Amino acid sequence: MINKFRFGNPIIQTDAVVNDLSLSTNSLSQGAVKSDWPFAFEYKMAKEDMIFGLGENVRGINKRGFHYTSWCSDKPGGNESDSSLYGAHNFIVIFGEKISGLYFDTPGKIEFDIGWTDYDTLTVKCDVEGIFLYEITSSEGEKSAALKDIVHQFRQMIGQSYIPPFWAFGFQQSRWGYRTEKDVREVVKKYRENKLPLDSVCLDIDYMEEFMDFTVDKAKFPAFKKLNEDMAKEGIHLIPIIDAGIKQKEGYEVYEEGKKAGYFCKKADGSNFVAAVWPGKCVFTDFFREDARKWFGSKYKALTDAGVEGFWNDMNEPALFYTEEGLKEAFDKFESFKGKELDINTFFEFTPVSGSTCNRLKDYQSFYHEVMDLNGKKVSVSHDKLHNMYGALMTKAAREGLNEIKKDRRTLLYSRASCIGSHRYGGIWMGDNLAWWNNLEMELKMLPSLNMCGFLYTGADIGGFGDSSSRDLVLRWLAFGVFTPLMRNHAAWNTRNQECYAFGQSEDFKSVLSLRYALLPYIYSEFIKASLKNDMMFRPLSFDYPEDKIARDIEDQLMLGNEVLVAPVYRQNAKGRFVYLPEDMIQVTWKNCQASQAPIEKGGHYIDIPEDTVVFFIKKGKSIPLCGKIAQTSRDVDYSSIIKLGDSSAGYELYSDDGFTTEISLKNIRTI
Ligand code: GLC
Repeated sequence: MINKFRFGNPIIQTDAVVNDLSLSTNSLSQGAVKSDWPFAFEYKMAKEDMIFGLGENVRGINKRGFHYTSWCSDKPGGNESDSSLYGAHNFIVIFGEKISGLYFDTPGKIEFDIGWTDYDTLTVKCDVEGIFLYEITSSEGEKSAALKDIVHQFRQMIGQSYIPPFWAFGFQQSRWGYRTEKDVREVVKKYRENKLPLDSVCLDIDYMEEFMDFTVDKAKFPAFKKLNEDMAKEGIHLIPIIDAGIKQKEGYEVYEEGKKAGYFCKKADGSNFVAAVWPGKCVFTDFFREDARKWFGSKYKALTDAGVEGFWNDMNEPALFYTEEGLKEAFDKFESFKGKELDINTFFEFTPVSGSTCNRLKDYQSFYHEVMDLNGKKVSVSHDKLHNMYGALMTKAAREGLNEIKKDRRTLLYSRASCIGSHRYGGIWMGDNLAWWNNLEMELKMLPSLNMCGFLYTGADIGGFGDSSSRDLVLRWLAFGVFTPLMRNHAAWNTRNQECYAFGQSEDFKSVLSLRYALLPYIYSEFIKASLKNDMMFRPLSFDYPEDKIARDIEDQLMLGNEVLVAPVYRQNAKGRFVYLPEDMIQVTWKNCQASQAPIEKGGHYIDIPEDTVVFFIKKGKSIPLCGKIAQTSRDVDYSSIIKLGDSSAGYELYSDDGFTTEISLKNIRTI
């Protein structure tokens, strides 16, 4: 059951909820709202209570013990002390004696103190006027069923998760550093020469002319359409990046068009808001306006006409490097230190000055969006009050545009910024992480939380984006990545190459990567079923074994679908790892492109897992499909070669279709 409450006067209806309800006259079943304005919710946690949710955020699957802020942030680094990352996902599940879900529906900043100030108190505070709160409870008596049901009801309320084409489940290679057509061809050649499977190559900002959206640099990519055609013959898709900022440059068609039509965000004096990002000074489309969204979405045609079928939208929090005002303040501040001897206080004031121009609240407060209020009246609202919806609405603009351009085909789209609602339009990658072992662990913990919030097509930059990676880290990350719907290796320009052939002898990489292609029918089936049925594809063990004291606390193993348990290696130099199995299972060991399997008993085990090997577990009495032949691209995945792993007498519900139809239905499931 879902109860909807309203506190204060929300400025707008966000885009999160599709099946809306009338306001409830009941009271909350757990916790209480202490103040309508500024909004404050409080719940006294019992000793054993666990709190799940919050999608893309730092720390554990159980969020207790720390504080988190929903504020879409350009926060490179995957740092445990950050309390906001790129997304704003305000859904939590309280798991205690009683179980309930809470969704705080606001486009503005909201803070969750989950036992940080006081270990037994959960407080949620928001000082943007007005909020809708949805409380979800379940009539399921059993804890596991209740947890799943609460997430299911929430997901039903926010609408079905985005489904990309089949090829998007293939392996993607990316690097901020493929600067020319030659670079791209070289990457594909090396993958093919080394018999390493590959489906896509992402194009980072260098493919554009002066980083201008919807342009291609003709000097570096002289025959872009031909390149796409040649790649298509190889079974490769190119996935170009699109940034939120539009370069402010006279004569640049996109800028001129948007300026003339008045589609860009304005300051109080009516002038366009300008801030610098990669292209230098930029303007920003007011994605809150339907006409502006429509216009921006139609621009993708410049690239789809050349054969592109997938995009990644970036810098859409929006990230701002500086505004003139911010720059002036920083220079004035620097100036004020000149000639002074810096003491203990002034030195610490001095050092952050250069970074102080980025993503300033003052800048976010200085521009406006044209929105419809709850009475359908057009109003102008400052960005900071609506911040968390900006990137999500860019995804919506792209999705609607792409659906219009490619009416009968699914297209790939993933974004950096997001909030609940945009899970219907595209996926997300987990932003600029680092080539650190704990960032691999962080991905593992983020996945189920993101699934709770509707984001199914997701994954982290494999190998790590910032800092130089190492051979073992890339291998171990790939070994986890074979299970994540978005499987992409991506790195920053100033790091060492980390393609699967970049570390010399590539046999180990081939061994790991090939599992992805053997598992594609399984990953695709589980993904589509989770989307169509509003279920989680990845769950914490506590969702399946809530009564098992050991399983409840385990955060470095996950349940995948109804069959599999994954337990990746995420520690440097580890030759294997401890695994806890809450029931008897079958251990699958994948090595040299082949699977072997053996029963393994419930309980704790140390499992040897060499770097070229992937180990996972199948529940007793379950089976999963596995391709007997290893494909080099998703196009060549041979469904007729499917064998069953696990208990071969158990049926498996296999979903299959042509991979691009927009008619996706449970009717395409057959039991094998
Ligand atoms: C941002 C993106 C990153 C990309 C870079 C250059 O940092 O998050 O993925 O490579 O911009 O476009």
